[in-house]
Amino acid sequence: MKTIYLLLFLFSSIFANDAVHDFAPSSECKECHAQIYSEFYTSMHANATPSQDPIHKAIWDRDPMNKKFNRYVCGKCHTPAADNLDKMLTNGEKALPDVNNPTHQEAISCAYCHRIQSIEKHPQSNTNIISKTPNSYYGTSKQGLESPYHKIITDNNEHMQNGNICIGCHSHNVNKAGLNLCSSNVNDEMSDANCVSCHMPKVKGSKSSISDTGTHSFHGFAGSHFHSDMLTKYVDISILRNIDNFIVNIDNRSSHALLLHPLRVAILKISVQRANETIKLPKEVFVRVIGKDGKPAMPWIADSTIKDTMIKANEKREVKRDFKLQNGDRVDVVLGWFLVNPKVVKKLGLENEKAATEFHVFKKQSFTF
Ligand code: HEC
Ligand code: HEC
Ligand code: HEC
Ligand code: HEC
Ligand code: HEC
Repeated sequence: MKTIYLLLFLFSSIFANDAVHDFAPSSECKECHAQIYSEFYTSMHANATPSQDPIHKAIWDRDPMNKKFNRYVCGKCHTPAADNLDKMLTNGEKALPDVNNPTHQEAISCAYCHRIQSIEKHPQSNTNIISKTPNSYYGTSKQGLESPYHKIITDNNEHMQNGNICIGCHSHNVNKAGLNLCSSNVNDEMSDANCVSCHMPKVKGSKSSISDTGTHSFHGFAGSHFHSDMLTKYVDISILRNIDNFIVNIDNRSSHALLLHPLRVAILKISVQRANETIKLPKEVFVRVIGKDGKPAMPWIADSTIKDTMIKANEKREVKRDFKLQNGDRVDVVLGWFLVNPKVVKKLGLENEKAATEFHVFKKQSFTF
């Protein structure tokens, strides 16, 4: 008997969604948290589903868990408010994403995030432990704050503010071959910044329509799809002119690599403006390619990183160009990215998706000599 109980306990703690897996829909928060809602609504957290995110869909469509096993394992992080998440995560069950199930379309909802009580560490990926009280939300204010609609829990403020709440999904995602597909380097702590302070900075506007707090934490989650302008201050670009060459320095002051997902490719474009002439210099590519037997491969097949030129956490990367600058020259640099490596866009059937094909300009700077 003992072992059975233990097993049951183990399962309930891994999935952490027994009987309490019922979340208020985000639209219910809109009435009183209008501004936070409108930011959230257009963010990738609200759109992390196969039906809303064509890039996610393209990979999911090809994943053997889809066609062969009919089980949306991605739901653990992409649709964690789904009412059948336990089935999505249980061997032998079948549970595919369903556009007609509103709990699937909630994606990473307000109530889900605000009920993450703690994080359980696991080697493959961490697990969010959800509080069992459906209408109580973890907040950040001092004790005594009240809402007519829900309870506010204030004894877990630090976990909300220091980014611990993010690492259930963002810490690591290790595939069956043991390869970490995506990691935000959570151990590389910074003293003055964390996931929340960088990605949810304070912006104008009250946190609720009931009191005027002046500012609130940005819920559009600045990132590689949207609002990257809010993060440019963490990446500095400078130029060092030498006699026969020059060096572009990229100083990544964030606690993780410039881009994290292996589909991404960052590019530094460099050109020199001399009088009326524009001289294009070779571009620099920053990428992490995953694969098997030395060849690029899909995430469920890959067992190693076959190439990694991505700019790392806190790295200052030097990009040298053997070009002799003259007085009066202007060097224009553009740092940006493709969300999907152009080499695989066609293979993934994403050639008509703007999000996958457009070059996203992150930072543009000019230096005159
Ligand atoms: C452990 C949590 C976790 C699981 C499980 C997970 N993902 Fe993700 N996924 C993430 C996070 C976090 C991001 C955002 C990473 C980033 O932007 O660097 C992401 C981003 C993505 C992206 C990029 C989307 C875009 O718009 O650029 C794709 C594609 C993707 N995931 C596919 C999948 C598929 C397919 C599965 C299931 C087979 C899956 N993921 C399972 C956490 C997870
Ligand atoms: C009827 C209005 C109303 C609705 C609906 C509502 N809230 Fe609130 N909420 C408030 C008020 C009032 C406060 C207290 C803050 C204030 O006075 O501005 C608050 C505070 C919070 C806090 C804590 C803020 C802090 O500073 O610590 C969180 C978290 C929160 N709400 C989440 C939600 C979520 C999630 C939903 C939807 C499921 C929701 N609220 C729906 C009125 C509402
Ligand atoms: C329940 C899992 C989960 C939690 C908790 C979570 N995220 Fe995410 N996050 C994701 C997934 C999945 C994606 C990718 C969605 C996609 O592209 O389809 C994502 C995407 C992002 C992005 C990329 C946005 C963009 O525009 O590209 C940022 C930034 C981000 N998350 C920051 C955070 C921060 C900060 C926290 C903590 C406050 C957090 N996340 C908590 C699952 C989660
Ligand atoms: C990915 C996780 C995540 C999601 C999704 C999310 N929040 Fe938050 N929320 C946070 C974190 C983390 C903080 C604390 C921010 C800080 O300390 O600066 C926060 C803060 C708040 C606050 C306190 C006021 C403030 O701005 O600091 C309110 C109110 C709130 N959220 C409501 C909502 C509502 C309503 C939604 C949906 C429309 C939502 N949240 C979606 C993580 C999330
Ligand atoms: C010092 C600021 C800083 C801190 C701390 C930080 N980030 Fe970032 N993050 C950035 C910058 C800069 C980028 C790259 C620009 C962009 O994506 O817009 C980025 C990009 C991302 C992306 C998108 C990557 C991709 O490939 O699409 C995700 C997801 C993300 N961060 C999550 C996190 C999480 C989770 C944490 C905490 C563990 C965190 N970040 C801590 C600054 C920071």
